[in-house]
Amino acid sequence: MCGIIGITSARGNVVPLVLEGLRRLEYRGYDSVGVALAGGGGLTIKKAAGRIDDFVRTSGVARLSASTCIGHTRWATHGPPTNVNAHPHTDCSGRVAVVHNGVIRNYASLREELEGRGHRIVSDTDTELVAHLIEEGLSGGLGFLDALARALSRLEGSYALAIIHSREPDRIYFARMRSPLILGLGEGANAVASDIPAVLTVTRRVVVIADGELGWISPWEARLYKLTGNGGYMEVPLEEVEARVKLVEWTPEAASKAGYPHYMIKEIYEQPQAVLDTFNGAVEEEDVERAAEVLASASKILVVGAGTSFHAGLVFTYFASRLAGVMTLPIVASEHKVYTPIVDENTVVVAVSQSGETYDTLESVREWAERGATIIGVTNVVGSSLDRESNITLYIRSGPEIGVAATKTYLSQIILLELLAVRLGEVMGALGRSEASRLLESLSRAPEVTRKAITAMEPLAKADARGDVGGSMYILGRGLGYFLAKEASLKVKEIAYMHAEAYPAGESKHGPIALVTRGFRVYILATSDSPEVAGNAIEMAARGGDVVVVKPSDLSLELGVKARVLDAPPTGGDLVLEPFSLIPYFQLYSYHAAVFRGYDPDKPRNLAKTVTVE
Ligand code: F6R
Repeated sequence: MCGIIGITSARGNVVPLVLEGLRRLEYRGYDSVGVALAGGGGLTIKKAAGRIDDFVRTSGVARLSASTCIGHTRWATHGPPTNVNAHPHTDCSGRVAVVHNGVIRNYASLREELEGRGHRIVSDTDTELVAHLIEEGLSGGLGFLDALARALSRLEGSYALAIIHSREPDRIYFARMRSPLILGLGEGANAVASDIPAVLTVTRRVVVIADGELGWISPWEARLYKLTGNGGYMEVPLEEVEARVKLVEWTPEAASKAGYPHYMIKEIYEQPQAVLDTFNGAVEEEDVERAAEVLASASKILVVGAGTSFHAGLVFTYFASRLAGVMTLPIVASEHKVYTPIVDENTVVVAVSQSGETYDTLESVREWAERGATIIGVTNVVGSSLDRESNITLYIRSGPEIGVAATKTYLSQIILLELLAVRLGEVMGALGRSEASRLLESLSRAPEVTRKAITAMEPLAKADARGDVGGSMYILGRGLGYFLAKEASLKVKEIAYMHAEAYPAGESKHGPIALVTRGFRVYILATSDSPEVAGNAIEMAARGGDVVVVKPSDLSLELGVKARVLDAPPTGGDLVLEPFSLIPYFQLYSYHAAVFRGYDPDKPRNLAKTVTVE
């Protein structure tokens, strides 16, 4: 994982911009941080284990000034999060400084080889080896780009690299293989980074670097090359680079907290707008119809994703079945290999990933595309790997999501996938024109339902979060409610650090109910397809469970037992609206529970937003 950034500018000191960029990249990892800057014939490096704010307070980095600087925020893979393992890493001479996101698989053999040739390797990281490999090329008389290309030819695995060299204080070299990297092209200032929000203080003109590309930037120039194998490379002509420039719509404000205490709560509040933007974008989108046609002609449909994106995929399988009569197989991305033998050229894959860079999701897509499958990618990030590797991409257009927990992108994914299911239902002939238009009309009300859910549920969620003292809980649902419960429980676990287990309510009798004694919290997430959950609520209450039913206010359930009922906005029994009515309570509950206990909801422990490692 990890986030990397480099900025070079003719307009003055870039250190504050790099630090701001690192703050925006912290969602990729935040166990160590560091910067390297060139000037005065040498390199200055500051780095430390810990969070960026402590680093800025204690390291003196804020007093540094330079026109060229690279930076890194780390999620440890090789070696624990210590000061020594923090990036940037240097070669023996201290003239080359490298920041890296990715994993070098042949680390052990390369290290042995380099140490055998006398290199002094001081950290446990795979990154440091890159600096020493470049050093070898330079001391053999190669120019920097040749030395870099030669070093890259020795690496197996994934990397996004930014590198500075004391002899060229105005340049940042970069390279990419299977880890995200973009260039930001400004006026008298250029940047390279793992993700778009990090460069928005410099520019909105962005080029997505492809696997196997390398190059350099100075304040006035950007040069791109393509590896040709065995240390060779050729230049990518400027016109081709220009043709790839995208003007991103995201504004610097969209990537800031805008007065909210945390990104997570800001992004929860942005949900009505995000859902509206997704819907407006997708409803006119020919690619949604094209995707529905491709799905309709498939003999097998696999739906793949990780974490929250997998949960959105579950909602798609639900509506594909219900609205279109189409069977789909949902697959957790890290388990994709189990299903590879069934994939062939008649298979269509719906791959869901906010970032478009999740390692397991990309691996499934790559493996299955090789077997002839057609890939429909659903992502928030234009130019991401998933975008580039899909036959059809459907963009959710939620704007940048910086909080580690997915919130607005989940509801955006859901509305887009519901729309896809409606279109599929039309193509399959399962939905008549009037039913399809009625469903579209329902979907158009989702932003309003979301807004009402946030307003109505926040006071309840806040009070509940303060009252609860931890322990363990079940979140039960049936039908759609079970799929939503999966996401609700993920939020509670990752943000509030409470054990929350989602279970199909009917299945809870087959074991889990054994845990339910006096005071054990059981949430029942009731959706209008499954009034039978009332029976499960009764069973749980009979065993002393502290039962809380979350349901749309117009869904009537015959509970007849002591259970607290939380009324979310009404949906008129319209299932497509129920995720928008029911999910905000759990997002807000998790957020307030974390804040109340002094946890950072934007940076939950051990997590990174984009998991780019196996
Ligand atoms: C949970 C969360 C993660 C991501 C997962 C997939 O709140 O954010 O579970 O959903 O890592 O990430 P993407 O969607 O970028 O593939």
